[in-house]
Amino acid sequence: MEVVILPTAADCGRVVADVLAAAITGRKSGHRPTLGLATGSSPVLAYQELIRRHREDGLSFAGVRAFLLDEYVGLPADHPESYRSVIRREFTSHVDIPDRDVHGPDGTHPDPLVAAIEYEQLLRANGPVAVQLLGIGGNGHIGFNEPGSSLGSVTRVKTLTEQTRRDNARFFDRMEDVPRHVITQGLGTIGRAEHLLLTASGARKAAAVAAAVEGPLTASCPASVLQLHPHATVVIDEAAAAELERADYYRYTLEHKLPHQPY
Ligand code: F6R
Repeated sequence: MEVVILPTAADCGRVVADVLAAAITGRKSGHRPTLGLATGSSPVLAYQELIRRHREDGLSFAGVRAFLLDEYVGLPADHPESYRSVIRREFTSHVDIPDRDVHGPDGTHPDPLVAAIEYEQLLRANGPVAVQLLGIGGNGHIGFNEPGSSLGSVTRVKTLTEQTRRDNARFFDRMEDVPRHVITQGLGTIGRAEHLLLTASGARKAAAVAAAVEGPLTASCPASVLQLHPHATVVIDEAAAAELERADYYRYTLEHKLPHQPY
């Protein structure tokens, strides 16, 4: 796992944007790259940077297919906080990725259990995702794989912890409006992506980041599953790095990265 510690969240946004941009510009001709997108606050600065590069530098996403990590159960697709609406508002509608190329679990399906199976099948048929962007919950979740999730899990319905509901209440008018259930890619599903790119900023994430990067591999910290992946990059600001024991080594490694060594 490569741990990239940068001074600010804005610096993290630029590096995350670099990795996503490289995945789409470095593709073989005729190949449609797949990106795994996350929602929430963590990726927003990266999305803003990609939008800026699209507008100012001509970065094109033509042909890209995007796959969401997760979706709330029961919110209408046009609800402003459904993840399909969020990703459109924060990113895809501002670049050349048409709605038809943005895929996510169907949170409005009459049977969410069936919707989960269908999304897993879609991912298997279209994968592997080239780069999967990830945030991390304060409790170590990735996607909505809450602590206790099987490290080999596939896409399924999960019940959110009260902590996660409280964390996400900031996006809703009232706590009661935050859905209790989600459909999330499993940890095994996420692990099929070719490159996992986790980003976090702020002191609120420091303990979860330390547990994921330096703690034991355990379902109690679902993000620790990154330790098993052959290509995982963690891009964090100084505040989120505050509890890492090997922070000095990670900074030293970054300083001495070979010029042609990609993230
Ligand atoms: C969102 C997702 C979640 C978030 C995590 C962090 O699609 O899968 O795992 O990445 O809850 O949320 P933020 O970035 O809002 O702190």
